[in-house]
Amino acid sequence: MNTSPSPSNISLAIIGGTGVYAFPGLERARRQEITTHWGAPSSPIVTGEVAGKHVAFLARHGESHAFAPHHINYRANIDALHGLGARRVIGVNAVGGIRDDMGPRVLAIPDQLIDYTSGRASSFCDADGEAVLHIEFGEPYTASLRRDLLDAAQRGGVAVVDGGCYGATQGPRLETRAEIARMRRDGCDLVGMTGMPEAALARERGMDYACIAVVANWAAGCGPDPEAPISLEEIHAHLAAATRRVPEIVNALLAG
Ligand code: HPA
Repeated sequence: MNTSPSPSNISLAIIGGTGVYAFPGLERARRQEITTHWGAPSSPIVTGEVAGKHVAFLARHGESHAFAPHHINYRANIDALHGLGARRVIGVNAVGGIRDDMGPRVLAIPDQLIDYTSGRASSFCDADGEAVLHIEFGEPYTASLRRDLLDAAQRGGVAVVDGGCYGATQGPRLETRAEIARMRRDGCDLVGMTGMPEAALARERGMDYACIAVVANWAAGCGPDPEAPISLEEIHAHLAAATRRVPEIVNALLAG
């Protein structure tokens, strides 16, 4: 029996962020080198099966974290997954926590975002021949996929925060305390560098998209010790611990 995914049977695509360079437990895994009109995606796409469902996995920063947030070819990533037939995408994104209940190791399923990025190729309609799209984006994450993730987390016994506003910054540097204070006033609960334009591009391609935000650190000036510098060691330790729960949510989603 041929179990390779065809362009219609990928149930879910996962875009792994910092600390998530593979999806554990993929059966019949197969690496696919794909090129798109926009160039190559950040990594080969690994397809395989979980609970009998076809899954595609892509490492957003590349498998050895070669691409900084502003150098990621978001269009190639989304288009490669779309070309494989994926219509539901989960982005896993490392973030800093701003809101008091969004400390290190918290997982959150945000429901809003504010885009502070600049200069990124952020739409498919830049290219000749692509229709100009003014996508509806009032609700940037697909409500039904968010709901499914929240239900899956509950079934899988993984605590997640329901909702929150993701502020997407340009990076690659971390933010100043004043920038985070402004973002807090703007209504941001989380800060990360990779949430946009990924969410908008998925919407342009008509794909369902939701985010699992993994809190790696308190954002600058936040948390119990607001003047503490943010260390990379801290980020990696928290991410290593918290990202372990992500496959539990995804597996419950696929099994449900
Ligand atoms: N700021 C922006 N992006 C991040 C952070 C942060 O504090 N932590 C992890 N990704």
